Amino acid sequence: MEANISHKILICLGSSCHSRGNAENLKIIQDFLKERDIESRIDFRGHLCNELCNRGPVIEIDDSVFEEVTKSNLESILTNHFDKAACL
Ligand code: FES
Repeated sequence: MEANISHKILICLGSSCHSRGNAENLKIIQDFLKERDIESRIDFRGHLCNELCNRGPVIEIDDSVFEEVTKSNLESILTNHFDKAACL
């Protein structure tokens, strides 16, 4: 199963990030992966607070940490990483 995993997305589900946008961002990411049928290739999971709350909502994609992620900038973050980079 892990042989198909090529990327990871970690979303902070600590109370601050969750209430400030990651609850909605979680759904946006799920829809993005589903629309492109790449769910099986992405290790997508949540984690608890890692003390970056003042810069949240926080999402990590592979080795990059994205701060202040909102529904208005999340789509471009995902598109830049997974579509334009053609990294799948
Ligand atoms: S709740 Fe996300 S970094 Fe603290």
